[in-house]
Amino acid sequence: VSDPASAATAATKVRAWRVTGGAPLVGRAVVPGDKSITHRALVLAAIADGTSRLVGHADGEDVGRTLAALRALGVHAEADGPELVVHGMGLDGLRAPGAPLDCGNSGTTMRLLAGLLAGRPFEVELVGDASLMRRPMRRIVEPLSRMGARIEGGRGEDGELRAPLRLLGGQLRGMDHRLAVPSAQVKTALMLAALRARGPTTIREPAPSRDHGERLLRRGGAPLRHTEGCWRIDPSAWDGRLRALRLDVPGDPSSAAFLLVAALLVPAGDVTVAGVALNPGRTGFIEVLGEMGARLLVSPAPAGGEADEEPRGDVRAEVSSLTASEVGGERALRAIDEIPVLAVAATQALGRTIFADAAELRRKESDRLAGAATLLSRMGAAIEARDDRLLVRGPTRLRAATFGEADVGLDHRVAMTLVVAALCAAGESEIAGLEAAGTSFPGFLSTLRSLGAKLTAVEHAC
Ligand code: S3P
Repeated sequence: VSDPASAATAATKVRAWRVTGGAPLVGRAVVPGDKSITHRALVLAAIADGTSRLVGHADGEDVGRTLAALRALGVHAEADGPELVVHGMGLDGLRAPGAPLDCGNSGTTMRLLAGLLAGRPFEVELVGDASLMRRPMRRIVEPLSRMGARIEGGRGEDGELRAPLRLLGGQLRGMDHRLAVPSAQVKTALMLAALRARGPTTIREPAPSRDHGERLLRRGGAPLRHTEGCWRIDPSAWDGRLRALRLDVPGDPSSAAFLLVAALLVPAGDVTVAGVALNPGRTGFIEVLGEMGARLLVSPAPAGGEADEEPRGDVRAEVSSLTASEVGGERALRAIDEIPVLAVAATQALGRTIFADAAELRRKESDRLAGAATLLSRMGAAIEARDDRLLVRGPTRLRAATFGEADVGLDHRVAMTLVVAALCAAGESEIAGLEAAGTSFPGFLSTLRSLGAKLTAVEHAC
């Protein structure tokens, strides 16, 4: 079974994929390791004292960017069977890279590196692909500058700060900070900077975002505490040494969501995704689907007994009749990456589903509110993006459609959302640009095929 990358041979090039609607998805699957956890584990392993060993880590392009950047900063890492072995350089051991660090499509890479590299005794430039160069960076540049970092960014006509970011050193000092937007990327980045700052840093969030960074920092022995509703890092009485990590990374729930929603929507669907991360900061979509009437069974695995470990378990989805729901507030935050595929579920649900408080979706790899509305409308969905909301009326019978690379727009979650919509549509859709799925889920198409999805490559000679 081939995926876009491996299917492209010297003689032929995959132009698009034909997706046949209506084939039930049945079986058991695993998904790549969690992307958010893997980025953070790599960064912390790089500045730990000693050798870390990760297994089950994500293998998508985004995480590959973080690993490549760390290597360019002098970190040695190699595979040992299924394990990734990372030789930590200590908190202050990173070296100047010889060239700008290319973060590709990965906002997490760029923002975590900004925190990791702020105030270092060398200059670094962070760049990315066309999608990443459009994304907002003031949220990270401003607080790091307040800590004393010297950072230059590009300025758009709208006044927003964007990559390329040039980090020019500076002496970091602690600060009290309230995040302007609840962003786990920014939170982790500021914590990384706070480890090397003079004096304590406190970070307050408007709403709790995913806490993978906090868990890993505490496992590594960082001086991090949660007190009076805020995170406090005080390195003054700390020896500056992070313990190396031994980590079995659970599967990425944001990848599992595509398989589970597809199973729910196509008759006779019954899919179990094994070993998925069940961190409460990530399971908003499971709660939303449950409220919509989805037959979902979550079987948590017994805890391994380590402090701050990530919960995990199996999730089974069976074809279901859905009803509309309202999603907003902290639940929208805990389901933010899954809202596009939840919108596909909403097209099949009875009534009007509202996804509110989702303005951040306009600032992801693409404007996902506009994308979901425009692209799913072309399949017959009654869907509209209004300000920070997505409104969907269902159920509607989706019809097959053709999507080009420009529709996918370098956005992995848009690519996978379109495939899920095509799987429950009548007829054969054609979708180009599915290589984007490799950003987070390199085996997406082959996994779907192993569950019974009908996908064929549309090829043409080079
Ligand atoms: C992520 C946090 C979220 C999420 C993104 C990954 C992370 O973004 O949407 O896919 O790993 O910290 P924000 O930090 O912008 O909320």
